[in-house]
Amino acid sequence: MQLVVFGLIAAAIATAVALGFHWLVVPASRQAGRIFFLYWLATGISILVFSVVTSVLVYSIIHFRAAPDDMSDGPPIHGNTRLEIIWTLVPTVLVIVVGVASAIVLSKNSDAGTNPLIVNVTAEQFEWQFTYPHQGNVTAAELRLPVDRTVKLVMTTRDVIHSFWVPEFAQKQDVVPGITTTLVITPDRLGTYPVICTELCGLGHALMRSEAIVMQPAAFDAWAKSTASAVSGGGAAAGKAVFAAQGCGACHTFKAAGATGKVGPDLDTAIVKDAQLAGLSVPDFIRQSITDPNAYISPGFPKNVMPGNFGSLPKSQLDALVNYLVPPSTKTVSP
Ligand code: CUA
Repeated sequence: MQLVVFGLIAAAIATAVALGFHWLVVPASRQAGRIFFLYWLATGISILVFSVVTSVLVYSIIHFRAAPDDMSDGPPIHGNTRLEIIWTLVPTVLVIVVGVASAIVLSKNSDAGTNPLIVNVTAEQFEWQFTYPHQGNVTAAELRLPVDRTVKLVMTTRDVIHSFWVPEFAQKQDVVPGITTTLVITPDRLGTYPVICTELCGLGHALMRSEAIVMQPAAFDAWAKSTASAVSGGGAAAGKAVFAAQGCGACHTFKAAGATGKVGPDLDTAIVKDAQLAGLSVPDFIRQSITDPNAYISPGFPKNVMPGNFGSLPKSQLDALVNYLVPPSTKTVSP
């Protein structure tokens, strides 16, 4: 009996240590709250069982150790029915508790409710693209979500298997060629969180990251509206909106957009020269470089760095972006 008490004390100390560190991120979705509850339930039970078993083991090794000169047989013990019933029943109950709790969490976490916000997620080596079919097909490189609204991600890939994960949302789902997978998330905390690909998908796997931005519903609506109207409005405003939404400035310098990226060619200086080298008109060269970036590589830059998925942009957005990037000095030849 005092053995079990000792085991429980050990369990309490171990639990305090386990809870004393920030092992996990602070959850930012309702689903994450449930998953972390489950995680700590299973971890707590494991610590309890481990502590009791270890206590009994250590006590037995010390207390029942035979003296060095003791060559006699041990006592003829033949089982203990009460003990066997206890150590069968207790784990059975614990496993059933974890099993039932998991089933409840699993079904709640995959329930999108009656009116989820739909976001189409497209994965491609090595880039995420988020499209909002009910917000005028706005497309962006970051995932913007209104707080406290359930979102259903409808996910497809253009090449290999990727996997969508935001640690603070906890939900995780593979994106698999040939099928459409879904994921339900209800963000409940404002902030910016990393979107991470967690399936080894090629050389750029470690760089296949984006951001999930949880915003006030009004701010989200305003963003969706202004982006949609800027894109459909045509002209430089549309091009600028597409340039910003697709995150072009992360890799390219382009003064008109205030972009200072250094990964790819400088769009203020390289376009005319490279179009000549590629033997194309400036607008044709820009379009090709966006939709098929490996067709021509600017001298001094490596292949396969620029994502190849921008060809899937709606034609109006692509046209706007091409027009936006044509240098003013050559505008006369552009349509
Ligand atoms: Cu996509 Cu790893």
